[in-house]
Order: sequence, then structure tokens, then C-alpha cells
Amino acid sequence: MIGGGYVGLVSGACFAEFGVEVAVVETHPGRLESLRQGRIPIYEPGLDTLVAANIAAGRLSFGDDIREAVAGAEAVFIAVGTPPRNGDGHADLTYVFAAAEQVAQALSGYAVIVTKSTVPVGTSRRIAEIVRHARPDLEFDVASNPEFLREGSAIADFMRPDRVVIGTDVTQDGGSERAQEVMRRLYRPLYLIEAPILFTSLESSELIKYAANSFLAMKISFINEMADLCERVGGDVHDVARGIGLDGRIGRKFLHAGPGYGGSCFPKDTLALMRIAQEAGASSRLVEATVQVNDARKASMGARIMSACGGSVRGKTIAVLGLTFKPETDDMRDAPSIPIVHRLVENGAAVRVYDPVGMEAARASMPERVTYCADALDAARDADALILVTEWNAFRAIAPARLRDLMRGRIVIDLRNVYDPAAMAAAGLDYSSIGRPSRGQAKTLEAQVG
Ligand code: UDX
Repeated sequence: MIGGGYVGLVSGACFAEFGVEVAVVETHPGRLESLRQGRIPIYEPGLDTLVAANIAAGRLSFGDDIREAVAGAEAVFIAVGTPPRNGDGHADLTYVFAAAEQVAQALSGYAVIVTKSTVPVGTSRRIAEIVRHARPDLEFDVASNPEFLREGSAIADFMRPDRVVIGTDVTQDGGSERAQEVMRRLYRPLYLIEAPILFTSLESSELIKYAANSFLAMKISFINEMADLCERVGGDVHDVARGIGLDGRIGRKFLHAGPGYGGSCFPKDTLALMRIAQEAGASSRLVEATVQVNDARKASMGARIMSACGGSVRGKTIAVLGLTFKPETDDMRDAPSIPIVHRLVENGAAVRVYDPVGMEAARASMPERVTYCADALDAARDADALILVTEWNAFRAIAPARLRDLMRGRIVIDLRNVYDPAAMAAAGLDYSSIGRPSRGQAKTLEAQVG
């Protein structure tokens, strides 16, 4: 496994758990040292235990020497980073190609070289060229095996996937069969639980990853527009989501309205798909609209809050619960909380924030003048308004009456619809949420109609 980052680490540990002998190559010295000691530099529930158990069982090891790691390997996974390239937003494949070159030099016999990183269509084929050029004598195949892991439930997603996608080269002499055989053996435990394993061409496999993430992003942008519409015409987006989602062709998942999607995948992969389509001379208008709707949504949350606060937040104290882009992660990439908190601070609010796991990671993207609180109730103390931005479980349990007693004001803005509007109103709070009827929104609607 080349790369001990998020994908490499989760996949490596899970393959080891399947009984496969896994050697992870990590070149960053600090990171390598902590991994060797079983310390995990990222937050992913259950990963530390899984890594420690498999190190102890002798199936998982970490090192910085590619040659040592790939000696005798049947499959070499490239799971290095593909950050957006400066300037044009393309995925930067420098690390992927450098890894391919090094792997080629280090291999001594047949292996399948697998891309696990999310890479543009055509990358696996370019890797094959690089390897062939570096080692004309080497017997190898390339494969594309995209990951569909969600942060926060990555281990379950790996162990019980909806499907595994494996792209191999379709050659006339049936050259991909050997690669498929190796991959089949690696994923053998999944055959036992009857997880579908889909073999495709390299290009289809590479596309599936972008298409899946763009489609999910599209579902979210769609339901967010429906939420806005509900607010205008007086519907409840929960009922709408359920009502459409029970149609098996639509499906109930990923229809939660909110402040817009963030994270490391949806924003990056939608843009990448647009670029791939553009370069291929194909249309990607639905994905473009998905991105525009999401950008506009994230940007509009600040205004929504200001309006719920009576038009201005100047001099007011605002509590913000949840900073990460979703619960069970410390990831702040493209988190909706970032534009929200900046907007509030720029408009003269004193902002008190709390996140169960993401406080350290948040510092880099938060404005300087923000108060980091010890817990949710501490953040709520003496606040004029409270905003729930990320739906951590810990926030669900907060009793409305407790909030009312702690806060100076009465305004609660729930961007994830976790609280019960009736309970909030019963506690005397001025509660508004997303796409649901509530006192605050009914007033806005009256004002609009009036
Ligand atoms: C996603 C994909 O789900 C995963 O398959 C892929 O491998 C990587 O990208 P991840 O980014 O970890 O995973 O998080 P996910 O749970 O998919 O949520 C992404 C964003 O969408 C979050 O900001 C979340 O809050 C938002 N979201 C999700 C909604 O707003 N509504 C929903 O119904 C679902």
C-alpha cells in the first residue's frame, strides 16, 4: 500500500483484517513514526483498534522503503494524495506517477498495480505506460479500484460495501484475467457476504467514482432546492423527502436538506467531472448546476442567520454548534461552518463555537476573533442566538429548556433539522430550521406575502 493517508490506512488495515499481509509505505517521517507505534494521525472511529490489532497479529507493517514493501507483493495499491493542482483545479497526479515509477523500479515479479486514489479517467492507462517504459521486462497488470468510503464510517463501508468496483485492462488476449484473479482473492471475504463485485474496463471504473459522488451531490442540491421551495409555499421537506424517497427508483438516502455539502470528495469530484467532460467535449450541465446550487447555498446561510436575528448580528453573541463538514470526523475541508462564522464575525457578532472533535482542525479556517468553548452548553451561555451547523449526536440530547435558561436570547437556528419544532416552541424558543414550518418561518412567509 503506497501511502499511509486516509485511504491507504483504512484500506490497508481492512485488507489486513481480511487476513492479507499488508505493508504500508509512508515517507513522511513523523507520520511513519506515529503509525509504527499504532498512533493514528487522523480521526476515524475504530481505526486505531483495527490498526493496533493487525500490527500485533503481524499482518500490518509500516515502513518507508518501497523496495522492501513490494518485494513478493501480488498487488501494489497506489493510495497517495491527489490534491487539486494550483491554478486549474485539475487533480495533481505528480505523486501518483512518481509512485508508479518507484513501484516499477522496485518490483521483481508479476504484480497488479492498483490505483485507489481518485484519479481522472485515463490515469490507470498512463500508469501502465509509465511502468512499461521504466521496466520493459516486467510482467504486470494495472487495475482501478476506487474507494467509496465515507469519513466516520469508513471501516464499515470497507467491510460491508454496497459494491466493489474493479476496472482492469480489456486486452484481446484476455490479459485482465490474471489481474482479476488476484483482486478476487484479495476481496474473498466479501464474496462470503455476497457483496457485489463488479469488473469493468479501466475507464468505466474511473468514471464510476466521479459519477457516484456527483450523483449523490446532485441529490443533496436537489433536496436543498426543495427545502427552499417548502419554505416559500409552506411544505415540510421531511415529508417531501420521505414521499419521494419511498419510491425505490429514487431511494431515501442522501435527501437530508441542510446548509450544503462539504468534505474532501463531493466538492473536488464534481469539479473534476466537469473538467473531464469539458476536455472530452461532453456536456456536464447537471453537475455544473449541482455545484452552483451548493455554492450559493453555503454562501446564503449567513444571510439566513442574519435575517433570523432580526436583520443584524452586530453586537450580538452567537453560539455555533458543530464546525466539521459532518459528524464523526475532524475534517474541516469545505465545511459550511467556515463561510457562516466568517460572515457573522465580519458583521460584528461575537461568535462562540464548539465542536466535539474538530476544534483543533478548525482553527486554521476560523476567523481569529472566535471563542472556542468547552462544550455545547458553554457555547450557549449568554448567547443571543444559537446555530446548529453540524449534527453531532451529542447536540441532539440537549434539552430545549436548558438552552432557554442558559441563553440570553431566544433564537435557535437549526441548519440540520435535528430538533423538534414543537418541543422548541414549548420551551419558548424562537426556533427555525430548514424547509419545515416553524414560527419563525411562518412569520417570514407572512412578511413575504404581505
Ligand atoms: C463521500 C461519499 O459518500 C463516499 O462514498 C466517497 O467515497 C467520499 O465522499 P464523505 O465526504 O465522507 O463521503 O461524506 P458524506 O457522508 O457522503 O457527506 C458529504 C456531505 O454531504 C456532508 O457535508 C454532508 O453533511 C452532506 N449531506 C449528506 C447532506 O447535506 N445531505 C445528505 O442527505 C447527505
